[in-house]
Amino acid sequence: MKVISIVGARPQLVKLAPMAAAFAGTDHQHVIVHTGQHYDADLSDVFFDGLGIPAPDIHLGVGSGSHGAQTGAVLTALDPVFESERPDWVLVYGDTNSTVAGALSAVKMHLPVAHLEAGLRSFNRRMPEEHNRVLTDHCADLLLAPTEEAMRHLAAEGLADRARLAGDVMVDICLRIRDSVRAGEHPAPALPPGIDPSQPFLLATLHRPDNTDDPARLAAILDSLAGLPLPVALLAHPRLVARAEQHGITLARGSVHVGRPLPYAGLVAAALASSGVVTDSGGLQKEAFLLERICTTVRPETEWIETVTTGWNVLVPDPQELTAEEWAATVTRATPTEDPGAPYGDGLAAQNVIRLIEEWKVGSRRA
Ligand code: UD1
Repeated sequence: MKVISIVGARPQLVKLAPMAAAFAGTDHQHVIVHTGQHYDADLSDVFFDGLGIPAPDIHLGVGSGSHGAQTGAVLTALDPVFESERPDWVLVYGDTNSTVAGALSAVKMHLPVAHLEAGLRSFNRRMPEEHNRVLTDHCADLLLAPTEEAMRHLAAEGLADRARLAGDVMVDICLRIRDSVRAGEHPAPALPPGIDPSQPFLLATLHRPDNTDDPARLAAILDSLAGLPLPVALLAHPRLVARAEQHGITLARGSVHVGRPLPYAGLVAAALASSGVVTDSGGLQKEAFLLERICTTVRPETEWIETVTTGWNVLVPDPQELTAEEWAATVTRATPTEDPGAPYGDGLAAQNVIRLIEEWKVGSRRA
């Protein structure tokens, strides 16, 4: 069987790592197509090097652009790739513009599509990712759900017959890298200047358009971080840097120390060294949960609801609606004491994904 993985953005490279490793243990041919949505070394190359992912077989080089331009560029570039490769399956990951373009391109060429991380919903139609998820789930053949909650969402949308519970491949990679960090197999992470990892600090990221693109909201969130009683290591995504520059907003202020995004092992090490995480990233909410660090999410909702129901994650839609004391108390709260269980699976999701693809009878759903 020949499977093409379509990836393009940082979180997809993290998910690709366990998939590439699992495919390497089979007789299947695994072809990696990188759309080029993320092209900075910090967001792309370091993940291939650091996670031992084979170099992409094909690079589309689409780069940045408006949603339509970026999605359209991937669609256009994929046609000849699928035409010449003729894969048995196309595997798309998560919820980016590369995901929906990969799925749409494949179904139009009558190629079977599997969607890894199917069924997640924020129910917030302002998020570009929400459209990407819904559209991808409704056109894919096999929906590989990471959680029971995701399975329920798919059933509610009439997609139960193509949904299968696979577990979350992020568990596979996060726990493996956690163990190698603890075993001292990685250099110390390049934290922002001014952050002493032997002293308490908070790890922060911010990149969602809803938080970065309105200058008043961005400035307010930064002020809230600046007023915290602990140093804040803000790992700045290029979107955050670009929007701050555009609006004349200075990121470094008060407690905030600004650094570059980290490679995956560096991020895991930084999270382990931190007292807690403040973020709007879906991946980091879950990594904090898996690494047993409290997380505060600057968003009105989350797709990873299990992190909230187990007490490890608290949603704060607008930090300025809290008093300075309440905000500080929230981000430095005590860790929950109850066992959260394993809502994201047992770290063997990548093998499950391959087995579910092998077992799937293409066409049976529509017969
Ligand atoms: C994308 C995904 C988001 C994911 C995030 C992870 C979509 C709609 N969003 O958001 O789901 O959580 O990746 O990081 O697909 N830029 C660079 N260098 C790069 C890439 C981007 O400078 O290598 C800058 C550009 O100014 C670009 C902006 O960041 O316009 C946004 O990049 P884009 O890929 O459009 O979306 P992300 O915000 O990264």
